[in-house]
Amino acid sequence: MTTVIQGGHTARYSSAFTLDLATCVNPFGPPHVFGRTADALQNGRELRLHPFEAAEAFRHSYARKLGVAAEELIIARGITELIHVVKEVLGSELTCPTPDYTDLILGFPLSTPATRIDVQARYSQIVEIANQSGVIFSNPCNPTGLSIPSNQLVEIVSAYPSRLFIIDESYVDFTSEPETWSMVGAKLSNILVLRSPTKCMGMGGVRVGAAWIPDSGLRARFAKAICKWPLSTFDALFAQLALEEEGWRVSTTKELLNSAMEMEVALTKAGFNPIHNVPVHFRFVPHQNPRLVADKLSEAGVIVRVKSAIEGICGLRFVAPLPSQLSVLISALEGVRQ
Ligand SMILES: Cc1ncc(COP(=O)(O)O)c(C=O)c1O
Repeated sequence: MTTVIQGGHTARYSSAFTLDLATCVNPFGPPHVFGRTADALQNGRELRLHPFEAAEAFRHSYARKLGVAAEELIIARGITELIHVVKEVLGSELTCPTPDYTDLILGFPLSTPATRIDVQARYSQIVEIANQSGVIFSNPCNPTGLSIPSNQLVEIVSAYPSRLFIIDESYVDFTSEPETWSMVGAKLSNILVLRSPTKCMGMGGVRVGAAWIPDSGLRARFAKAICKWPLSTFDALFAQLALEEEGWRVSTTKELLNSAMEMEVALTKAGFNPIHNVPVHFRFVPHQNPRLVADKLSEAGVIVRVKSAIEGICGLRFVAPLPSQLSVLISALEGVRQ
């Protein structure tokens, strides 16, 4: 039986905790769109009906946000559902470079783990896989945060026109310049990009997401595999209203990125060696005995994500806290100084 578990699931900790740094969802969120969602639902009338229009309405607003044609998006209940559809439709053609995100690790054949954890090594690992098969990976990478700029990814994807590249961009909206990293809109036909606004808008429980698939043949294969009425009316409406809060996204992610830089300094002062030069709001700390450190931090009320060798890297992932809670983390780190 596999011991790989999802992060952010704090219910398994019996003691009270103060800071949940195990989930990558924007802690500022969600933006205040509850009232407007309720109004738009016409006091419940819309919820009595089946969600005939839900996916269509979300498809159009997300396409506008991403700057692509609505027909190029396949809509689903989050990237998770899309990962499972990718597995069903293309599973045998893809390999995942490790380390990478839990569901990709669990769902696809894996490369040998990277021997060096830096962007150049990740780039070479992807090229190496492309020599043998298609590639599925997250960029920015969860858990390391390492990110390959889109102009470099374009070079790889163009060099292997007969391979498919599936890129999970769950964290690209947390970066200060998403366009530097995103492949959405690239003039290539052998890519498929997975996106969802939920983590960045602090609404992980809202299940919406999209696959941008520029190739119409591949898109048709995906459309067949998606279930009828893929979104709930409530989720679709809430997400559309949240997408309008672009100013909120920009200001909260800016604060989170600053908090991540301060967290990186605090981790380094505590004797850890976090992976730096990453454009996201989390930091990975390679460590031989991450469980020991995580247990001690949890005694101080701080929960972080532990990764074991089975996932391609051993260590701890810290998500930046709200700036007002940095001091809690800093004092918890005192107790695990290396
Ligand atoms: C890289 C990555 N992809 C996908 C997901 C799940 O995405 P969603 O919430 O859109 O289903 C996560 C959640 O943590 C993730 O880290």
